[in-house]
Amino acid sequence: MPGHKGVKLHGLEPYDLTEIRGADELFEPEGIIARGEQLTARAYGSRRSFWSAEGSSLSIKTSVCIIRQLLGRPVRIAAARNCHRAFISACALFDIDPLWLAPSESSELCACPVTAQQVSELLDREPVDAVYITSPDYYGNLADIAGIADVCRSRGVLLICDNAHGAYLRFAGKGLHPLELGADIVCDSAHKTLPAYTGGAYLHIAKSAPEGLDELVKPAMALLGSTSPSYLIMGSLDICADLLNGELPEMIRARCERIAEIKALMNKRSIPDLSEEPMKITIAAERIGYDGRELADIMRGYKMECEYSDPAAVVLMISPYNSEEDLFRLEKFLTELELHAPLNRSIPKIKGVLPERVMSIREAMLSPAVRVPVENSDGRVSARGAMSCQPSVAAVMPGERINAEIIKILQRYGISHTDVI
Ligand SMILES: Cc1ncc(COP(=O)(O)O)c(C=O)c1O
Repeated sequence: MPGHKGVKLHGLEPYDLTEIRGADELFEPEGIIARGEQLTARAYGSRRSFWSAEGSSLSIKTSVCIIRQLLGRPVRIAAARNCHRAFISACALFDIDPLWLAPSESSELCACPVTAQQVSELLDREPVDAVYITSPDYYGNLADIAGIADVCRSRGVLLICDNAHGAYLRFAGKGLHPLELGADIVCDSAHKTLPAYTGGAYLHIAKSAPEGLDELVKPAMALLGSTSPSYLIMGSLDICADLLNGELPEMIRARCERIAEIKALMNKRSIPDLSEEPMKITIAAERIGYDGRELADIMRGYKMECEYSDPAAVVLMISPYNSEEDLFRLEKFLTELELHAPLNRSIPKIKGVLPERVMSIREAMLSPAVRVPVENSDGRVSARGAMSCQPSVAAVMPGERINAEIIKILQRYGISHTDVI
């Protein structure tokens, strides 16, 4: 690097290269990056896999961009409402107002169960070019990607899956990864469940996806991303590519089996686990008498830091790189935890009726905004949207009007201020 010259200050500088000869270029790869991407595609069984050094966030924006470019006209996308904000940013950039697939009834905002039937009914009513689904969600719910993919394929509609949390699923068993289940474009955050540095991610194009998409990916990533992708991150994706073609799949399978034992212990003790994923545990804290944030604090006493906690649950992301001692600590905590009656709280629910849309996402996100206390936002138009966590069902999207119900939801999730037009 011209600045630090590889001198160790932080420690990683010797590996932090730039586009010197032999190091290849992410957006026009011909050498080691091309080879690493091919190895990644081989491990995933995709037609092409592309690296992102800017997370699934860049992969998601790129997915929307290439569909827009492939069709060469404004696109209509139906999306499950629990999308990550990278998708909302893509909507603002490409001026898309999605047709929302909202939960018919959802008590917690991380989940947005969308059925193939719901997608089919929407596609009967509306002309749509692509369906966008987030699976797994933050709690570890898995959508019926196979069923949704069947519906999409039968109508000639593309299926994009935000699988940021599920990069490992390809190796955890058969028929778990969205590529195997029929999605056309899949975004995986390698850094969430594989041994990659923060920001390492993939964009996969399925073998069965329409021709013409692949060539659009690199230019789209160059359009949307930084001209200085981190070689540290790419180096870690390169190591991942070798590991995924080597010992890592077996390590992932073994870890999932070990976690199945922990899930069995939870089951025996009647500690509910909301996660359908084999490598994630989501303790339904409220159902055993705890606020999730309080339970996360108790876990800190056992030297464990959760991935996420909210009033209802605590999410634990475990990987093959946790030590056996880590897992013993988790088992000790689960064995010693006192169980209580469920907390009897009234939970504001989002029930399929969406807030009034006043202006487009793009118009709202590009408008000047003021920050107001949530309790003063009744009747105002949200400028940037508000979510309990990333991703989750947005209580309000940019351009929608805030109402009293929405205020209650925001308050439940500890959101004190919000940006309004
Ligand atoms: C479901 C989901 N999609 C996308 C993202 C963005 O991924 P990244 O952090 O790799 O950019 C996240 C990050 O938390 C996520 O949870």
